[in-house]
Amino acid sequence: MRLKNKVAIITGAGNGLGKAGALKFAKEGAVVIVVDYDQESGETVKEEIVQMDCKADFYKVDVSNWEQVKTMVENVKEKYGTIDILVNNAGVTADSFLVKMTDKQWDKVIDVNLKGVFNCTKAVAPIMIEKKEGKIINTSSVVGEQGNVGQTNYSATKAGVIGMTKTWAKELGYKGINVNAVAPGYIMTEMVSKVPEKVLEKIRNKVPFKKLGEPEDIANAYLFLASSESEYCNGTILDVNGGISI
Ligand code: CAA
Repeated sequence: MRLKNKVAIITGAGNGLGKAGALKFAKEGAVVIVVDYDQESGETVKEEIVQMDCKADFYKVDVSNWEQVKTMVENVKEKYGTIDILVNNAGVTADSFLVKMTDKQWDKVIDVNLKGVFNCTKAVAPIMIEKKEGKIINTSSVVGEQGNVGQTNYSATKAGVIGMTKTWAKELGYKGINVNAVAPGYIMTEMVSKVPEKVLEKIRNKVPFKKLGEPEDIANAYLFLASSESEYCNGTILDVNGGISI
């Protein structure tokens, strides 16, 4: 029970990495605040956690919308008294070669992956600053470190997340708050299932293990960074990518 009674917001927790993190945190004793813009998947994850005799709540929020984020954070604080952990996991892709990328594809990914992380952290940080403790975990990507064919927008956001993580580690670290990021490689989720099979084959071949990761691999990294075991980690970008970046 490494997160006993900790109040943890996980964005994009309706599926994929966020869902895996939500289930793991719940098993470790956290009160999990499932945040997603998809009502059905968010409610389903919440119900799954409640069925496990663990604690969860669901808020339908578009993280790119400041008013929605602010209201959700105020409501969580009022209902549960505090916020101990924020996992900025929500992310989308809209892949296209640079010359074909539309403004709509660019804006969508920037709004969710970059502004969404800014919005959620800005809303939660004052609560953590006041009590001089808290854990903020951002989700970057190997693509933010290395770039990727077809991902001008996504790689820009994931590199931006690294910049924000290091900035906040400096700004908030002296207030007792740990700010770190996980940089997943290619993990078997709905997002990766959209990648054409011929491209996936090339990717798989670049991983020394010759296989993709599982959501559980990222949930374990989230747990480490959310727990007291990572007390001296700050501004760390934890690669969980099977060695694809070597
Ligand atoms: N590495 C190597 N080659 C690639 C490639 C990649 N990542 N992506 C595309 N290519 C190659 C294709 O294999 C193809 O080569 P051939 O002409 O030799 O067959 C060529 O580029 C053209 O590709 P498409 O026929 O697919 O062209 P398209 O215009 O229909 O689509 C695309 C282009 C949208 C970029 C599409 O190829 C695609 O979706 N690629 C995958 C992008 C990707 O890796 N996304 C990662 C999503 S998962 C994620 O983002 C999570 C995370 O954090 C890692």
